[in-house]
Amino acid sequence: MIRRALLDVSENRWLRKHATSSRVLRRSVRRFLPGETLEEALAACSDLGKFDLSTILINVGENVADRDEAAAVTKHYLDALNRIGSYRLSIEISVKLTQIGLDLDPDFCLTNLITLLAHTRAHETTWIDMEQSSYTERTLCLFNRARQDCRNVGVCVQAYLRRTEKDVEALIATGAAVRLVKGAYNEPTEIAFSRKREVDESYFRLAKKLLGKEARRNGVRTALATHDRNLINRLTAWAGSEGMTPKELEFQMLYGIQRALQLQLAEKGYGSRVLISYGNFWFPWFMRRLAERPANVLFLARNLFSW
Ligand code: FDA
Repeated sequence: MIRRALLDVSENRWLRKHATSSRVLRRSVRRFLPGETLEEALAACSDLGKFDLSTILINVGENVADRDEAAAVTKHYLDALNRIGSYRLSIEISVKLTQIGLDLDPDFCLTNLITLLAHTRAHETTWIDMEQSSYTERTLCLFNRARQDCRNVGVCVQAYLRRTEKDVEALIATGAAVRLVKGAYNEPTEIAFSRKREVDESYFRLAKKLLGKEARRNGVRTALATHDRNLINRLTAWAGSEGMTPKELEFQMLYGIQRALQLQLAEKGYGSRVLISYGNFWFPWFMRRLAERPANVLFLARNLFSW
C-alpha cells in the first residue's frame, strides 16, 4: 500500500513542480543524488573510479512537454558527452525518451537520440531508460530504429512486465545491449507480476536467457541492474556453473544503495557500474526510490523530525 501511495504521489503534477524546494526533501534526497549539477555528478564519477567502479550519468527528468525544453535537454547531454570525453574513466549516459521529446513527436525524439549516439565514445553505450508500460512499445520501436544507424545504444527492460520474455527474445536475436531491471512503476496485474517472488523469478529467468549461449553468440551486452543480494548470488553461482568468468558479468546499481556490495563485486572482477542521477527535477524519481524500500520512508521521517 505504501509503495502504491508513493508511486501515485510521484505522478502528482503540482508536487513534481514544487516539492523540490522543501528543505527536508532536499536534505533526504542527497543520500541518492550527489548533487544537482553535472560538475557534482562528474566529481562523484571520479571518486567511484578510484575504486574501479564505472559509472552512468542521468540528468533526472521526464515527460517534457515543450520542444525547446527537449532540445535543451539534448544539448545538455551533448555537453555532458563532450565533458566525459576528457575523462580516462568509463562514463556512459542514460536518457529517458520522454525527456528528449517522445511525448511530442517520435521522429524529433529519434533525431535527438541519434545526435547523442553520434557523440558517444567508441566502446561505450548510451542507455535508454524504460518508463511506464504505456511507453514500452514506443521505446523499443525507437530503440530499434536508432540501432539501424548506431550500434552503441542500449535499452532497459523490466522483469515485472509479462511481455518482457518476448521482448528479450527479440533483443537477443539482434545482439542488442540490454539492461535488466525489476521495474519501478505502478502497473496493473493484467500486464505485470505483482508479487515479489514472481518478479524475482522472472528476473532470474530473463537474466539466464540474456547471459545464455545464444545471447553470447550474438554479442549481447547484458547489464544486470539490481541491488538484490540473493538474486546476485544465484546469478553468479549459475554463471560460474556455465563456465563464465566474473569479467563476463556486469552489475549496475544506483548511487547511494548497496555501496559495499558494489565494491565487493568490483574486487571479485565483476563489471560493476553505478548509475548517478543529478539535476533538479528529482521529485518523481525520489518518490520511486522511496517506494522501492519502505525503510526509506522512515529515513525521510527521521530527517523531518531532526530538522
Ligand atoms: P529489490 O527492490 O528487491 O531490492 C533488493 C534490496 O536492495 C533491498 O532489500 C534493499 O536492501 C536494496 N534496495 C533496493 N532499492 C532500494 C532503495 N531505493 N533504497 C535503499 N535500498 C534499496 N526501473 C525502471 O522501471 N526503469 C529503468 O529504466 C530503471 N533503471 C534502473 C537502472 C539501474 C542501474 C538500477 C539499479 C535500477 C533501475 N531501475 C529502473 C529501478 C528498478 O526497476 C528497481 O525499482 C530497483 O532497482 C529496486 O529493485 P532491486 O532489483 O534492487 O530489488
